[in-house]
Amino acid sequence: MALIAILAGDGIGPEVTAEARRVLEALDLGLTFEEAKVGGAAYEAAGHPLPPETLAVAERADALLFGAVGDPRFDNLERAHRPEQAILGLRKAFGLFANLRPARLFEGLEGASSLRPDIARRIDMVIVRELTGDVYFGAKGRGTTEAGLREGHDLMRYDEEEVARIARVGFETAMRRRRRLLSVDKANVLETSQLWRDVVIEVAEDYPEVVLDHMYVDNCAMQLVRDPGQFDVILTGNLFGDILSDQASMCAGSIGMLPSAALGATGKGLYEPIHGSAPDIAGQGKANPCAAILSSAMMLRHSLGMTEAADRIDAAVAGAIREGARTGDLGGSLSTRAMADAILDRL
Ligand code: NAD
Ligand code: IPM
Ligand code: MN
Repeated sequence: MALIAILAGDGIGPEVTAEARRVLEALDLGLTFEEAKVGGAAYEAAGHPLPPETLAVAERADALLFGAVGDPRFDNLERAHRPEQAILGLRKAFGLFANLRPARLFEGLEGASSLRPDIARRIDMVIVRELTGDVYFGAKGRGTTEAGLREGHDLMRYDEEEVARIARVGFETAMRRRRRLLSVDKANVLETSQLWRDVVIEVAEDYPEVVLDHMYVDNCAMQLVRDPGQFDVILTGNLFGDILSDQASMCAGSIGMLPSAALGATGKGLYEPIHGSAPDIAGQGKANPCAAILSSAMMLRHSLGMTEAADRIDAAVAGAIREGARTGDLGGSLSTRAMADAILDRL
């Protein structure tokens, strides 16, 4: 019997993960659940955003369902104690280097996209984002220059193995789709990116059926709003992938619609909406639970081998959306709970 760790976190995290859990329970898959605190909630309760009790629950679980972390009350703590360290720490602790962020336009959401409907309709891509390296995990610090000016630095770095293993995930993802891979970097300026590009080209030799292209990240940001239908699988680093996926989400209607999977070398994965804790709407029952619910489907698919149940969740979300169920971010007025009910009705 699979054990799911529910790490709800802060803000709307608990609101959306509660709905994802309800959907999983309704499917009667024999899953067991164990909840543990993370982020600001854990800092308040235990003095640390990722306390040992939570790590222990994550350790014994088969998969982790994560909500969101972040709370403006803790934005001025020293970095090691800020809520965001919980998600960074979990990704690192379990070696979850591969982040899959699928973005597609659900039928009926053409009007919610910030793009013209004829352009938005064609969105169907996966962003493969590297998740445990880059400027996120390089040496960082604050200090004072010789001239007495305050300074800060964050080292951007990758080694060839880190690039090669995420490149392989990119090529494998492309093999399961349209056999086209676009690597996004900033090789015209950054050494990290030149290494990235060189290694991706080397790994491509193992995937002769995949057509590999390269694009600079600034152009990619522009192309995403010009013609997102051109993209299929985007392979990119941690920072660029973070930014491009938020942008892709709005092209597809709302950040409340995009799920993600964080995967490593073992079957244990972490599944979470790409959005944050949304302090502006937290506690009001307004959050869109679709990203969290779709993340639970990714969990069934990637960690538990329950493909059929995953398909049922995806279809129920698509059906609810098609028939007009909408939270506020999608231009409707359903509460978080009512949106999840609309999905449960179609399971
Ligand atoms: P955010 O994603 O929390 O919110 C951005 C905007 O999108 C807000 O207006 C919010 O109301 C809206 N939004 C987000 N999710 C929504 C949903 N499900 N339904 C409807 N509207 C939604 O980003 P932010 O405001 O930049 O960050 C808030 C906090 O979340 C910060 O502390 C940040 O560090 C944290 N954060 C955490 C994660 C994570 O836990 N993985 C991800 C992103 C941001
Ligand atoms: C995300 C978030 C995180 C990231 C933050 C909260 C550390 O923005 O999951 O997209 O930048 O990876
Ligand atoms: Mn992000």
